[in-house]
Amino acid sequence: MTRPFVFITRKISDNVVSMLEQHFLVEMWCEEEEVIPRELLMEKAKQADALLTMLTDKIDEELLTQSPYLKVVANLAVGYDNIDLEAAKKNNVTVTNTPDVLTDTTADLTFSLLTATARRIPEAIDYIKDDQWKSWSPYMLAGSDIHHKTIGIVGLGNIGQAVAKRATGFDMEILYYNRSRKQDIESELGVKYVSFEDLLNRSDFVVCMTPLSKETEGMFNREVFKQMKDTAIFINSSRGGVVNEEDLFKALESGEIKAAGLDVFQNEPIGADHPLLTLDQVVALPHIGSSSLETRTEMMELAARNIKQVLNGGKALTPVHI
Ligand code: DGY
Repeated sequence: MTRPFVFITRKISDNVVSMLEQHFLVEMWCEEEEVIPRELLMEKAKQADALLTMLTDKIDEELLTQSPYLKVVANLAVGYDNIDLEAAKKNNVTVTNTPDVLTDTTADLTFSLLTATARRIPEAIDYIKDDQWKSWSPYMLAGSDIHHKTIGIVGLGNIGQAVAKRATGFDMEILYYNRSRKQDIESELGVKYVSFEDLLNRSDFVVCMTPLSKETEGMFNREVFKQMKDTAIFINSSRGGVVNEEDLFKALESGEIKAAGLDVFQNEPIGADHPLLTLDQVVALPHIGSSSLETRTEMMELAARNIKQVLNGGKALTPVHI
């Protein structure tokens, strides 16, 4: 009997590949940086029992209906907006993600981005490297304080909660808005539930942690930015599609808000000519939220274990509930 076929859509750890090879026939698109061409992905998916996918792979209805053997798509991310869940359900394909293992790493990055933006750290690095530092001066690269300010977290899932814990260490007032109130953890985390409007009006830092869905797509638009303080700093490490980037640009350029720290963009990767990069008050990162060696390895291992479970007839460890 031939062994089930697992196709991996990007170069991942050799150890994880070996772990899968003990049980399955494994093939991998061996590029580190380059997204697998659509035609090749379609061709491999047609033969595969399992796909280990990246958030850059579009796993849509067309692919799912043309992949007769496919039983599981293990996405190397906690987000799964690249996958058509309804089509997966219709085709009896289990979808898994990598929650929990990346929570603290992504929260660390989110908070680093917040501090880098507030204290203008990238500008300061350029300043010294460009030989502009001629003397000490009272307002040289003066940023905004973080401690004792108000942070508003939009989306209090696991990563949002981990961001709240970090904010506690900075003595911040912590507000949150979520689809459903999370009363049971409010006192433990020291967070206050407020309406979205209240959060926008009161926060010095508005931190977007909400997943991308039909409901959240483009939710940070001009009207929303207008409700923020003109000293507010907007942070997004969730998904770029939650933000209307043209509106964000206008809000920053016109001084409706002060600055933005962005790890994610509507269409990734962005080029160096992206309008938001022309603004000094924007700190931009190339979607590295969960990118530590330890965490990325754990994510790969979890994705592989999910595949092993499903192909061996068991239950996925971290299924996406459809
Ligand atoms: C995720 O897991 O969804 C992250 O965006 C990857 O860094």
